[in-house]
Amino acid sequence: MKPVKVGLLGIGTVGTGTFNVLHRNQEEIRRRAGRGIEIAMVADLNTTRATEITQGRCRVVADAWQVVNDPEIDIVIELIGGYGIAKELVLAAIANGKHVVTANKALLATHGNEIFRAAQDKGVMVAFEAAVAGGIPIIKALREGLTANRIQWVAGIINGTTNFILSEMRDKGLDFGSVLKQAQELGYAEADPTFDIEGVDAAHKATLMAAIAFGIPVQFDKAYVEGITRLQSCDIAFAEQLGYRIKLLGIAKRVQNQGAEAIELRVHPTLIPAKRLIANVEGAMNAVLVQGDAVGATLYYGKGAGSEPTASAVIADLVDITRLATADPEHRVPHLAFQPDAMSDIQIVPMSEVCTSYYLRMRVKDQPGVLADITRILADGDISIDAMLQKEPGDGESQTDIIILTHLTREKHVLAAIERMQSLPTVLGAVTRIRMEELN
Ligand code: HSE
Repeated sequence: MKPVKVGLLGIGTVGTGTFNVLHRNQEEIRRRAGRGIEIAMVADLNTTRATEITQGRCRVVADAWQVVNDPEIDIVIELIGGYGIAKELVLAAIANGKHVVTANKALLATHGNEIFRAAQDKGVMVAFEAAVAGGIPIIKALREGLTANRIQWVAGIINGTTNFILSEMRDKGLDFGSVLKQAQELGYAEADPTFDIEGVDAAHKATLMAAIAFGIPVQFDKAYVEGITRLQSCDIAFAEQLGYRIKLLGIAKRVQNQGAEAIELRVHPTLIPAKRLIANVEGAMNAVLVQGDAVGATLYYGKGAGSEPTASAVIADLVDITRLATADPEHRVPHLAFQPDAMSDIQIVPMSEVCTSYYLRMRVKDQPGVLADITRILADGDISIDAMLQKEPGDGESQTDIIILTHLTREKHVLAAIERMQSLPTVLGAVTRIRMEELN
């Protein structure tokens, strides 16, 4: 049988990995796919570099439209990124009857509904394993391996840059700014790391996992997104003393809200018990914990970024598409795991209504009645204290830190209590609030 012809848009880090792994393992891949898979055409603005990488083994062009309009091309791999030209190219490839493989989480989390609908109408596949947690086959696991389950929640460390920063802050007691600089020097963090450190990248990935886990449309605009830029190393140290680690988690959870089933979709720094396996995922590694009603907890761990780990996911999609291309479209695995006419309109809970427990830290004057005032405010808000830690003031100091862990509380009640606490003359500066998850 003739090999499947693939067109690659963008031969940067992941594109190079894809090209190299596909060549290196071509025989294994052909035996698995049932046909050869050949990158026949590469489009990249830097044609000199693209030619060096591909070494004459395929056609190199500068114009991506030549690839999506070439009738010889069966599958287009989009590795350009962003929402602009990438969206136009993906939609054009679909309109031309080509299957698409993409690692572009930003595109799918924001325009996925439109893209999947177009693909559905045209009877082509849009595969995106590489868009979430790099080399970890989490899309496959959620969409196929766990298909028997009613998924209860998914919680993941799905951004390697921020996990590297948090690990270094904890290990070395360094502050956020200096670790970020080091992460940029090591090449973990982008020159503009905004999407990583502000939690946007993780929220894109959480949005996609939520859609597949619960059979809901992609709704990035409803996700709550908070990054790690305001996190202080003292909070990491206090959390440690209390038996917790702080991780940037992407959480998608099925809950009851005001008597109706709803979904929480949120990304924020989170205290998790240090004894959980996922709490011990360090450096740039990723991990996703999935709780299903039948299977219980399952944990997926691996490299969430990088040339060949991400290429591993891209090529897995190429093989899937090669195997399924001749199947009737209705017999293929649906893009978002659930049949398009069986999607749920279950609502995303506004963050103010979300219930979690909280870590609160406040700098206070060390004088009688301070603690009484604080606990009175919590009691008034019906917020129950689970644990408390007060540090002795340093020599000659008249201020100290109080750390309070609460039981489950609604976000809006905690925010109201924090506002009242901050208005006390004995509470100095802002109260730090970090959400907690037991993950059991
Ligand atoms: N920038 C991402 C991370 C990798 O740091 O995990 C690509 O999604």
